[in-house]
Amino acid sequence: MKEFMIAPSILSADFCRLGDDVTKVLQAGADVVHIDVMDGHFVPNITIGPLVVKALRPLTDKPLDVHLMIENPDRYIDAFAAAGADWITVHAETGYHLHRTLARIRDLGKKAGIVFNPATPIEILDWLLDDIDLVMVMSVNPGFGGQSFIPSALEKIRLIKEKIGARNLQVGIEVDGGIGPGNIGEVAAAGANIFVAGSAIFGQPDYGEVIRTMKAQLF
Ligand code: DX5
Ligand code: ZN
Repeated sequence: MKEFMIAPSILSADFCRLGDDVTKVLQAGADVVHIDVMDGHFVPNITIGPLVVKALRPLTDKPLDVHLMIENPDRYIDAFAAAGADWITVHAETGYHLHRTLARIRDLGKKAGIVFNPATPIEILDWLLDDIDLVMVMSVNPGFGGQSFIPSALEKIRLIKEKIGARNLQVGIEVDGGIGPGNIGEVAAAGANIFVAGSAIFGQPDYGEVIRTMKAQLF
């Protein structure tokens, strides 16, 4: 998972016409569809369940990236996998047995990722890196779209890149929150290669233009 990818977050899409909006963003150059699952406990907001993932699945062969912002993710992993998720990411803050949770995701044939909130240290990666496909850095406090990028995420991305490089692994580095044309360059320079963007893309009339502007800064 080394190449650069743009992952529009459908949290900012038009939920009344979700299929049409997702099709539109895929045609506009999205590489991944990022789906934010919130339970009203781990984060203040409530959003999407497996039914919506299942409904979106026929629209594309591109990866459906399911970001679980929920307590007790073990309880729902099988359901999201069955619904058609390709990547399933779980928060470091939510699991007593993260190694087992991530192994379960891989056993189901999906890519497994661990997510860190802005204040969460990343040292547990020393005990997980060989068994995961991606690491996601939250650059906002999860729960809502349209928040400002927290700059300390850049240093966290650099440290994660070093850890991955030291073991010569192909683990992807995803970043989520407050990403757009104005900062994607420095986020990529820090070492991220998968960029979630919600409001920056869905908030503009021409999704293709935003995605092209973002990709032009990746090299
Ligand atoms: C935040 C979500 C993000 C969010 C990103 O809790 O995980 O994926 O939708 O939205 P923007 O790009 O608007 O910060
Ligand atoms: Zn997300």
